[in-house]
Formats: sequence, C-alpha cells, structure tokens
Amino acid sequence: MRTRPLKVALLGCGVVGSEVARIMTTHAEDLAARIGAPLELAGVAVRRPAKVRAGIDPALVTTDATALVKRGDIDVVVEVIGGIEPARSLITTALEHGASVVSANKALLAQDGAALHAAAGEHGRDLYYEAAVAGAIPLIRPLRESLAGDKVDRVLGIVNGTTNFILDKMDSTGAGYQEALDEATALGYAEADPTADVEGFDAAAKAAILAGIAFHTRVRLDDVYREGMTEVTAADFASAKEMGCTIKLLAICERAADGESVTARVHPAMIPLSHPLASVRGAYNAVFVESEAAGQLMFYGPGAGGAPTASAVLGDLVAVCRNRLNGTTGPGESAYTRLPVSPMGEVVTRYHISLDVADKPGVLAQVATVFAEHGVSIDTVRQQSRPDGDGEASLVVVTHRASDAALTGVVEALRSLDTVRGVASIMRVEGE
Ligand SMILES: NC(=O)c1ccc[n+]([C@@H]2O[C@H](COP(=O)([O-])OP(=O)(O)OC[C@H]3O[C@@H](n4cnc5c(N)ncnc54)[C@H](OP(=O)(O)O)[C@@H]3O)[C@@H](O)[C@H]2O)c1
Repeated sequence: MRTRPLKVALLGCGVVGSEVARIMTTHAEDLAARIGAPLELAGVAVRRPAKVRAGIDPALVTTDATALVKRGDIDVVVEVIGGIEPARSLITTALEHGASVVSANKALLAQDGAALHAAAGEHGRDLYYEAAVAGAIPLIRPLRESLAGDKVDRVLGIVNGTTNFILDKMDSTGAGYQEALDEATALGYAEADPTADVEGFDAAAKAAILAGIAFHTRVRLDDVYREGMTEVTAADFASAKEMGCTIKLLAICERAADGESVTARVHPAMIPLSHPLASVRGAYNAVFVESEAAGQLMFYGPGAGGAPTASAVLGDLVAVCRNRLNGTTGPGESAYTRLPVSPMGEVVTRYHISLDVADKPGVLAQVATVFAEHGVSIDTVRQQSRPDGDGEASLVVVTHRASDAALTGVVEALRSLDTVRGVASIMRVEGE
C-alpha cells in the first residue's frame, strides 16, 4: 500500500458533509486498504467557521473554499454544499487545478452536467455523483456500468422521500394533503419551505440525470415535464382504491416506441397495488428499471439522510481514488445517441378523469362522444349520483392508452359542455 495519502477537500460540512468526514475518520483503515492508500482530510470549507463540528480539527476549517480547491495538492474535492453557485465555480476550479470531484448536487448536475463533464474530460479527471439521485441507493453506477451492455427502455421511480411520506400518509390514514404535510414537517421529513419537493422540482432534477444516463443522451432540467402533488386529494385516493391502485409521485423516463426519442416527466400517478413501487412506504425511495435483456430490476432504499447519502459519496470517493492511483479515469458522460427529448404531448399513457356532470339522461353519451371525437378510447365509466341531490353526478372515466395531446383536447372540449360542471381531477395511470 502507498503510504503517501490522497488528499481530500470537503466543501460543505452539513447534514451530508459531517457524515462523510465521520466515516472517513472512523473507517480510515478499511478505506485505505480498499483504495490502496490512506485518505487525508486536507481542508473543510464551510460558511460559519465558528460552529463546533464534532470530530473535525478546527485548523482544517476555512471559509475560503476557492483557495482550498486551488491549492494544487488536492486529489479529490467532495462538493456537498448544494445549489448552483458557488458549487459550480468551485467544481470547475477544482477540475482545472487537477482534482477529481465527487458531488451530491442534483440541482447542479441536472442544470449544468454537460459543461461539468466537459471540464472533467478536458482535464482528465473524474466527476462522480452517485449521491445526487436517490441518496444511498446505487443507481447511477448500475445504469452506467452494470447495464452498459443492455438497452434500457424505461426508468420509473419514487425519487423523493418527502412526497412519498406525504402520499403514503394520505393513503393509509385518509388524511388530506395539508394534514399529511404538517405531519411530515413535524417529523423532519419536509423542510420549512417544501416547494422543491412537493412541486416536483427535486424529482425533476433526478429524472433529468437518470434519463441522460439511461438513454445515453443529454437531458436537461428544462426538458423534464413537471407537475407537483399539492392538488392530490383524499377523493383521488378513494378513486384510486376503487381501481385497485394507489397514488405516487413518479419520475418517469421512457424511450419512445419507435426508439427515436425519449421523454422525461414527473407527476402524481395512479399505480396498481400489484406494482412493486406501490409497496414503497414512508420516506423510502425506489427505482424500477426495464431493460431489453435484464427485464425488470428494482432498486430500493433510503433516498436521503446524512449517513445514507454519505455512503454513496464514500463509494464514489473510493472509486475515484482507485482511478487516481491507477492513473486512469472512470466512465464520463455518454451522450452519443443524441436522442431528442419529446414534449409531454407525445407521451402515451392511460388516464383517470373525474368529472362533475349534470345528473340527467344523455350526459354519458355526450361525454363519450367527446372522447371518441379525439380518438381517445374509454376503458371504463362509473357514474355516481350525489347523495345531497344537488342535481349533479360524479362521472369517472378511465381511458385506454392515449397521447397527452389527445387527452388535453378531450379535457378542453369537456369543459365547454354545458352538462359538464367541472373537471375535478385528471390523473395518469402508470405501471400496468
Ligand atoms: N441531506 C440529504 O439527505 C441529501 C440527500 C441527497 C443529496 N443531498 C445533497 O447534498 C448536498 C448537501 O446537502 P446537505 O443536506 O448536507 O446541506 P446542508 O446541511 O445545508 O449543508 C451545507 C453545507 O455547505 C456549507 N456551505 C454553504 N454555503 C457555503 C459556501 N458558500 N462556502 C462554503 N461552504 C458553504 C454549509 O456551511 P455551514 O455548516 O457553515 O452552514 C454547510 O456545512 C446538496 O447538494 C443536497 O442536494 C442531500
């Protein structure tokens, strides 16, 4: 084993960074044996230097992250600050100064992954980010390496623990969205401002990263269709139950049937209770991968949290250090297929539509005609008179597979019918 240590700069020492530092210290001997050289924590960049940080030598702490990554003797920079800036500049500067980089930053990778990969390639360094998608769950390396000989057709995942916790609560207790969110906040599963999670921004960033790697093309955050889950109601769950389904916020990346394009989207969807993703409870994450030769694979585990996320960071750190000792680099960006990302209108799936309609003869036929005129075939229809006798009925229509564009046309036409008082909800049905 080499005795000269590999020097690691840690940018950020919060929830994830503090766990990375702890594991580096407590498992120093094992890590050295696995890598072939000891690791040395050479510096820790933070915002508040006076804060007491257990197990961290105060002499290593600095607020000048730029000077740290410019030192020139750093082998690996671990970026766990988060956000776009200064993380982007720090990673770029680190690569320019000869360091390889491990990051957990989904937002940055989804937005600027191509430029960062280009910088890593130009300087002959590694850029690894297993922790950026679904925390501890090994996903990027399996897609990039284990499935490199296969053809992935579909990635379907629960990649946000906060929203899965909320939806699971609504499902199991009949609670409304706000009540379930309040409980998630009280238990520390949701942040004070939950927008990034509940509006699907966090999941969309992960979908962009997954789609790019799965289909060997470039998918940016802006390419991902996104709908949050704040509009999901207890009534939607009741409807889902009647269909033998539950509701999950899903990230779905698909290759088109003709293989000529891909789509990436995040939205709530009904999935059958028999689907493996339906049994993913609480704040857990799971990703279901369908590929030509392997068939169906499921990856499951904790998608967040300091120690689980640090596990993924440490895995990357070991891999990058091994590469460094061998004078090589691991796989970089693979975007050779250059498959375009199709708009949401071209996505084909099934739909569950709840309508409030006038409770009188002929309405059902009128509604059915609208679907037929737009080429959307109906699978089942269920009509229920309201017990309060207000002259309205609820009509639930489940369609066969149709394009999102056709469904949008149907909904517009339905809204213009006098007998349709309102479109109560539209939910896609996935995983069948
Ligand atoms: N938390 C999770 O469960 C989880 C899961 C997967 C991925 N991630 C990703 O991991 C990254 C870190 O998340 P986290 O939860 O550990 O965040 P965090 O707890 O907020 O920690 C951020 C750290 O960055 C430091 N920092 C902030 N701005 C800085 C600056 N300008 N210069 C130097 N240091 C700065 C902070 O310093 P102070 O300590 O002085 O405030 C803090 O130590 C993010 O990209 C996140 O998306 C997190």
